[in-house]
Amino acid sequence: GTPARRSDRTVTLTIDGFEVTVPEGTSVMRAAAELGIEIPKLCATDSVEPIGSCRLCLVEIEGRRGTPASCTTPVAPGMKVHTQTPKIARMRRGVMELYISDHPLDCLTCSANGDCQLQDMAGAVGLRDVRYTPGANHFETRQNGEANPRYIEKDASNPYFTYDPAKCIACYRCVRACEEVQGTFALTVEGRGFEARISTGASDFLSSDCVSCGACVQACPTATLQEKSVIEMGTPDRAVVTTCAYCGVGCNFRAE
Ligand code: FES
Repeated sequence: GTPARRSDRTVTLTIDGFEVTVPEGTSVMRAAAELGIEIPKLCATDSVEPIGSCRLCLVEIEGRRGTPASCTTPVAPGMKVHTQTPKIARMRRGVMELYISDHPLDCLTCSANGDCQLQDMAGAVGLRDVRYTPGANHFETRQNGEANPRYIEKDASNPYFTYDPAKCIACYRCVRACEEVQGTFALTVEGRGFEARISTGASDFLSSDCVSCGACVQACPTATLQEKSVIEMGTPDRAVVTTCAYCGVGCNFRAE
């Protein structure tokens, strides 16, 4: 998914040498998608407002300094965007390296294996090496055997899904889905850096304001919020994914 367009007036620009005309207010990322150019991303989706937090969708724009996030940069007339320069490739690998250095590397046994956007993006940016020491958040004990004060146990209190803080990349997709898709404000992000993770503000999901609509689970790019049925039975064809506690009809809602 990519952030949606907003206007009837159009703007013409070039992206990687190809000309494209899109409604004014369209993001560079969305305009690139019109050309079939998929810019790597982790925090942007079709269904929530872009916030430019993951820094994976960086591009270069001729005449502009820096490397803006394409998901939050609107198109401008005559803009010349480059999505695949060596500099951008290096920066994206650097960003992915940081994400992976703080992520449990249990991909083969992870319930999101094959359906994980972190995994997809590591492949998409050509990540081959992680130079940093892995973050310590996801181990119950430290290397010296002492208890890890940063460790937070998996929360399985909700009947439909689990929450595994160790796999959270703090992309805010669940927080935004909760607010913008569901209109509930059950989630926030607490902590900074390695300790940033989503929080319900309550002791667990079951005792929080969460209404079990599933919007956050669908928005999650990793196995942080994972349907229990997926954990037990593997990834289904995902046609009916609602876990809405209100009707249970199965409305085919998908956040992505
Ligand atoms: Fe643009 Fe994350 S997708 S910053």
